[in-house]
Amino acid sequence: MLNVRDLSKNYGEKHVLHKINFHIHKGEIVGLVGENGAGKSTLLHILATIEKQSSGHFSIDEEPDSKPANIRKKIGFVPQEVALWEDFTVKENMTFFEKLSWKRRSIDELKKLCEAMHLDAWNTKVRALSGGMKRKLNMAISLIHDPPILFLDEPTVGIDLKSKKEIADYLTHIATTKDKTILYISHDMDEITSMCTRVISIGDDPFYDDILTAEGMDVTTLSKNDE
Ligand SMILES: Nc1ncnc2c1ncn2[C@@H]1O[C@H](COP(=O)(O)OP(=O)(O)OP(=O)(O)O)[C@@H](O)[C@H]1O
Ligand SMILES: [Mg+2]
Repeated sequence: MLNVRDLSKNYGEKHVLHKINFHIHKGEIVGLVGENGAGKSTLLHILATIEKQSSGHFSIDEEPDSKPANIRKKIGFVPQEVALWEDFTVKENMTFFEKLSWKRRSIDELKKLCEAMHLDAWNTKVRALSGGMKRKLNMAISLIHDPPILFLDEPTVGIDLKSKKEIADYLTHIATTKDKTILYISHDMDEITSMCTRVISIGDDPFYDDILTAEGMDVTTLSKNDE
């Protein structure tokens, strides 16, 4: 499904990702962990075609060298920062982003998508939503075009346990019933162990690897410096 080969990213002299390799199968929920600054968001930005790698390749659905526009049709991306129109209602945000999407959705379908995530505030302005509701809306927007693969960058930061569980349940549901493939960044190890089938760890500090391995998780470590 997602195949990453010798992918590197430098910002000037700074090596953020160094020749990383991994593969994710269809329907897997894979956690992406590592300390602050390890390069997790950078990796997701490259896979979401927001940034360009310095070298190396990745392919989705065995299609190497796809154009960014083709890749974007297959992916949903939830950024680390919430990106919504604060003065628009949930409905207006959903219909606005539906117009930007390459797939057409009816109002009813958009509403059902929000409801599936327990976001029942269709006519409420975004500025009146709680942090957790905004996160759910951000996620619903990323799913408008029904992408087979979803990249999520810390989608549950600062939200209560109930909303966290609703989001985890929804993601598990779409992975198991709709075969969605999910790459999920989080610093919450409980969330990772309960939701993810496997973990990718970036960086040379074994801190996360040790915790997750002790919990019985299958951890793949991507070293930053293997020179
Ligand atoms: N546009 C940029 N220009 C220069 N350096 C950058 C840029 N974007 C990220 N970096 C650097 O790349 C490194 C990796 O950043 P990144 O945001 O990917 O880390 P992260 O693992 O997502 O961290 P966090 O857990 O804090 O979100 C950091 O040292 C950061 O300062
Ligand atoms: Mg980040």
